[in-house]
Amino acid sequence: MKIYIINGPNLDMLGLREPEIYGSDTLESINAELADYCRTVGVQPTFYQANSEGAIIDFIHSARGSADGIVINAGAYTHYSIAIRDALASVELPCVEVHLSNVHKREEFRHHSVISAVCTGVICGFGKKVYRLAIDALSL
Ligand code: DQA
Repeated sequence: MKIYIINGPNLDMLGLREPEIYGSDTLESINAELADYCRTVGVQPTFYQANSEGAIIDFIHSARGSADGIVINAGAYTHYSIAIRDALASVELPCVEVHLSNVHKREEFRHHSVISAVCTGVICGFGKKVYRLAIDALSL
């Protein structure tokens, strides 16, 4: 099974960025751990991070016919990018929306996601474990 693991804006700053909220691991180390985990469960991951909306949309499009599922942390785009929502809907793949933090415990503007309605499910609040839980959700 091939899974695209997509991280949006500012997630390249993990480790430095508000560690009290997002933890002290870098995206590179999280992805390295995930790559190990994927090997043990027979999943083929493709990792992608971009800060710009268009680049994320192009990558989502490339999943059609190439991936069996998507894990996406769309960062702040989660809360307002109808374009990312439409891209996810257009590829017709199972998709898990993830957030490191529990967005519902935070500012009100983080409580609403415009992408949840086109995702299979949502996992948030468990730190870096959300990515592994999402891989399990798609592959088990
Ligand atoms: C986030 C939550 C978003 O509200 C925020 O804009 C992020 C990270 C998370 O992983 O908790 O960039 O998606």
